Amino acid sequence: MNIQALLAEKVSQAMVAAGAPADCEPQVRQSAKPQFGDYQANGVMAVAKKLGMTPRQLAEQLLEKLDLSGIAEKVEIAGPGFINIFLARDWLQTQIDSALASSRLGIPQQESQTIVIDYSAPNVAKEMHVGHVRSTIIGDAAARTLTFLGHHVIRANHVGDWGTQFGMLIAFLERKQNENHEEIALADLENFYREAKRTYDEDPEFAERARRYVVKLQGGDEYCRKMWKRLVDITMSQNQKVYDRLNVTLQREDVMGESLYNDMLPGIVADLKAKGLAVEDDGATVVYLDEFKNKEGEPMGVIIQKKDGGYLYTTTDIACAKYRYETLHADRVLYYIDSRQHQHLLQAWTIVRKAGYVPDAVPLEHHAFGMMLGKDGKPFKTRAGGTIRLSDLLDEAVSRARTLIAGKNPDMPDSELSQLAEVVGIGAVKYADLSKSRTTDYIFDWDLMLAFEGNTAPYMQYAYSRVISIFRKAGIDENAVQGQVIIGEPREAALAARLLQFEETLLQVVRDGTPHVMCSYLYDLAGLFSGFYEHCPVLAAPDENTRNSRLKLALLTARTLKQGLDTLGIQTVERM
Ligand code: ARG
Repeated sequence: MNIQALLAEKVSQAMVAAGAPADCEPQVRQSAKPQFGDYQANGVMAVAKKLGMTPRQLAEQLLEKLDLSGIAEKVEIAGPGFINIFLARDWLQTQIDSALASSRLGIPQQESQTIVIDYSAPNVAKEMHVGHVRSTIIGDAAARTLTFLGHHVIRANHVGDWGTQFGMLIAFLERKQNENHEEIALADLENFYREAKRTYDEDPEFAERARRYVVKLQGGDEYCRKMWKRLVDITMSQNQKVYDRLNVTLQREDVMGESLYNDMLPGIVADLKAKGLAVEDDGATVVYLDEFKNKEGEPMGVIIQKKDGGYLYTTTDIACAKYRYETLHADRVLYYIDSRQHQHLLQAWTIVRKAGYVPDAVPLEHHAFGMMLGKDGKPFKTRAGGTIRLSDLLDEAVSRARTLIAGKNPDMPDSELSQLAEVVGIGAVKYADLSKSRTTDYIFDWDLMLAFEGNTAPYMQYAYSRVISIFRKAGIDENAVQGQVIIGEPREAALAARLLQFEETLLQVVRDGTPHVMCSYLYDLAGLFSGFYEHCPVLAAPDENTRNSRLKLALLTARTLKQGLDTLGIQTVERM
């Protein structure tokens, strides 16, 4: 149930009936404090001025027209003209019952759009490192949430699989094959790349061969294509292991790397020239953009083809946006890329819009995120100052989780401990990232993310297992709870209202691409449940009807926590 939208519609009707213009904004929000009701409508202030009334006058007239019978049990004016809405208990009861009866917790599917999500995007012949973590984790949460809401999601893994470095990589792979060391060399991609680079810098003959291979590869030479493909395959199958371990939904077929757009590039350059957007400048092809100024305050030049004929990262992103609209039929495109690439994207998209490749009605959105920092506030690095390999980071998370869980449960069998450590350790890394507003840098802190208290994965996973254990311990079949929800206590009402805000939370997450909103919601829900559970005995309820009703509230809480965590890609367990 999208309560916010329902109330916004009713309040807006009443505002219009009270004399406000048809496009007035009711500004309905969830109330921050219980004494302000469940929702507040704050739109009166802005409109009253225009109508020459005091906000209070308008609020009073609005209230006369506002019909929330059956939905609200009390509506009052507060302060200068805020309207506080208290939801009716009967209404909450009915809504909880119908959410429980539905297979999707009462959440309707949205009108389906085709949404392309660009995320993860590691580079070939390089290990995925912590810099790709945020994109992978946050992007996947967006993909899962949009899928749950009924959209057609296309996951686009814009892998860095093209560029002049491939000549060097092919030449080096060839050398390792000849030495019969191919397998060892590719097991450690980071080393492979570093060694290839060293050889290139030190061995002129090798460097010459590497340069020849680039040209051949670009010309479609069969041998070079084959070697290139091998590099892509090996990298992506190593990355796939990380995705699977991370419980990230990306698959091999989601790879749409930079090379996919190669064939489009000459046509794009020619077209931009024909449209008068691109000009020749000292042998290179450049688009000058008035929207961006260089240091001298002149329009900034974006190179789309170099003097030597080579294309650039920007050229590829222009083609890529065009492809996503024309070929994939995207209605909306989300890019989960680190905030340092913001200017790059805006330039590419400005050109895309000017050239008419993607209509304005199709949003291209940069869902930027900050860097991952160490506890010292500096970019997150190993002690030796190197980049941290993602797989090492995950191993450490699991081993730390294992120590913590074993400390709490000394008798837990080893196999269960291993499984739980994986779920909690990986969950902790993901949730730490998801729960922070993505636009800021974030500090990677093992102790905070693995704490069993606070807005963390272990706490949320534990909260879920605690709710669901009520049923197991009492031997109650979840699907066989009888009766209806009856709301008596204020804590029951508060829990019920919050449960019904799941849909609004989902909608906000997909509108703004902000999974931390879901984390805050679930954390709050778990807290409300704790308060309810402490003060409103469930199994020891005073009578059968109350017991059944409370069991139902517990059940919807468990299902909401599970479904919510699932949209974030966080796994749950029944026992912890
Ligand atoms: N491979 C790039 C990197 O590692 C990220 C690609 C992001 N996507 C895009 N369409 N530019 O920085």
